[in-house]
Amino acid sequence: MINIALPKGRLGKKCYELFAKHGYVCKNMEEDNRKLAFENDEKTVRYLLIKPSDVAIYVEHGAADIGIVGKDTLLETSPDIFELQDLDMGKCRMCVCAKEDFVDDTDSVLRVATKYPNIAKTYYKGLNREIEIIKLNGSIELAPILGLSDVIVDIVETGSTLRENHLKVEAEIVKSSARLIANKSSYRFKYDEIENFIKVFEEK
Ligand code: PRP
Repeated sequence: MINIALPKGRLGKKCYELFAKHGYVCKNMEEDNRKLAFENDEKTVRYLLIKPSDVAIYVEHGAADIGIVGKDTLLETSPDIFELQDLDMGKCRMCVCAKEDFVDDTDSVLRVATKYPNIAKTYYKGLNREIEIIKLNGSIELAPILGLSDVIVDIVETGSTLRENHLKVEAEIVKSSARLIANKSSYRFKYDEIENFIKVFEEK
């Protein structure tokens, strides 16, 4: 039995469909219910539906053998796992964004609202810029609009959240995409099963 941590949402659904196409079907996954763990009939695979930012925690601690997670989360949390594959899915950019009329005063401490404090700190340390982090958990784009922060460090995917809130990209920090990760001891002890899942993505 291999335990797979799938991020709840569009990316997780897409990965499941890919696995199902390669034989790892789990009928009750396709029903509209509130279950969070699903096994197939042969009991060779169990899918776990996890909040995206928690996937790497399940994998690091061995509660899941493998998982799908964004590179952004890996950079932020540096979990002790193996990063096996760039899946070329879930592509986005980690950016500094601000109001359209924002002008940076480089003499003042920059107030940065973000869900990603470590990425933001590392970025501004590299620029030798003093910042104050305002840690938020969602709807980050509201912070500069309400004067809670000067800028935000956040994910930009289609750019529509920025556009609809009259914000602009000031700088791109790093590109991100979904990664296949594995627990370190699972990778040793379940090597063959895990390799099968790597092949699924190679063949798509
Ligand atoms: C993410 C991110 C941006 C938005 C970017 O938010 O924090 O707000 O998506 O996507 P876009 O460029 O396609 O508009 P998410 O949907 O995860 O919501 P939350 O951070 O507010 O919880």
